[in-house]
Amino acid sequence: MVSSGIDDAAGARIVPADAISDNEMGLDIGPQTVARYAEIIRSAKTILWNGPMGVFEKDAFAAGTISIAKAVAYSEAISIVGGGESAAAIAKAELEKMITHVSTGGGASLALLSGHVLPGVAALNDKLKTRTPVIAGNWKMHNTWSEARALARAIRKGVGDTARVEVVIAPPFTALPVAAEEINGSGVTLAAQNVHWEDKGAFTGEISTAMLKDAGCGMVILGHSERRQYFGETDELVNRKARAVLRAGLQPIICIGETLSERESGKHEETVSKQLAGGLDGLTDEDLLRIIFAYEPVWAIGTGRTASPETAQEMHGFIRGWLFDKFGKNAGAVRILYGGSVKPDNIDALMRQPDIDGALVGGACLEAESFLRIIRFQL
Ligand code: 13P
Repeated sequence: MVSSGIDDAAGARIVPADAISDNEMGLDIGPQTVARYAEIIRSAKTILWNGPMGVFEKDAFAAGTISIAKAVAYSEAISIVGGGESAAAIAKAELEKMITHVSTGGGASLALLSGHVLPGVAALNDKLKTRTPVIAGNWKMHNTWSEARALARAIRKGVGDTARVEVVIAPPFTALPVAAEEINGSGVTLAAQNVHWEDKGAFTGEISTAMLKDAGCGMVILGHSERRQYFGETDELVNRKARAVLRAGLQPIICIGETLSERESGKHEETVSKQLAGGLDGLTDEDLLRIIFAYEPVWAIGTGRTASPETAQEMHGFIRGWLFDKFGKNAGAVRILYGGSVKPDNIDALMRQPDIDGALVGGACLEAESFLRIIRFQL
């Protein structure tokens, strides 16, 4: 179908391909071409469609594209439509549900299918190859013995094979033994929410690393913002505790993150750098490999206001860059978790970010169902 221009619907006419005059342009395929394509589509087993047949945005030139869209949709083949315009044509014809897979990636999807490496996909694959995701539930000051037993049991039952993800639960001190009993042999790791920096001694009310190991812990959360805010925990204390935890053969989960006023005054990177420098003072690149970090912006904790995936990624990238500068290549293997209003409905988008390697979950880990959905995030 030809015409003098895309605004000249009245001048449109159907001509053989070799009879287009110099002042006309081809704006759609005609019925004979549609019939030929449709015949091939009917017998195809797999169809990759990339690119509309004409200027389908104009109704006068949409018939060819819509006919092909229908032929693809009604065929019994596996159909993959790639590219923003082809996806828009399928949407215009309301046929999305009848296509096996529609992607707005056009050239990129063809490149991927023909074996080329796409940098974004490679980064995600790389992340999964080198850094097993960690989903950790921080129970905070919740759950008595019986409640802890029930929650740990439900998590164990729902988790099944945990090879894809390292699942961690951090009950309060008193509930550690019952939780340990419930998850025994399951692959779920038990963590404590705090520890003292000395191995033993006259420290009323405190708990040592040996006691945590005895209770079945493999990890310890350190420097959570609630401990910094309500219990005066400083970077220096976090550092002493991290050394004790590493010395005992346990793994620290070191929390860092800025307050709202620090973010609003543009000091978020400065704050996090200071927390990293203080918390990691004197530690080696070997130590680094045993540390898990949790970036938890204080303004996102318990507020329902998650950092957007882009904002979180920006900070995770910054943290990894900082670790690279200070410790070198081991930074590439370090897991950095995001925490702050993580829920079943935002985990997938967060986990798709290249430097987000898991989550430290508060409120949403207290119900087995929502915690299990978070563990089963979809990339
Ligand atoms: P919420 O998920 O309730 O915001 O808590 C996050 C947190 O502090 C995890 O340590």
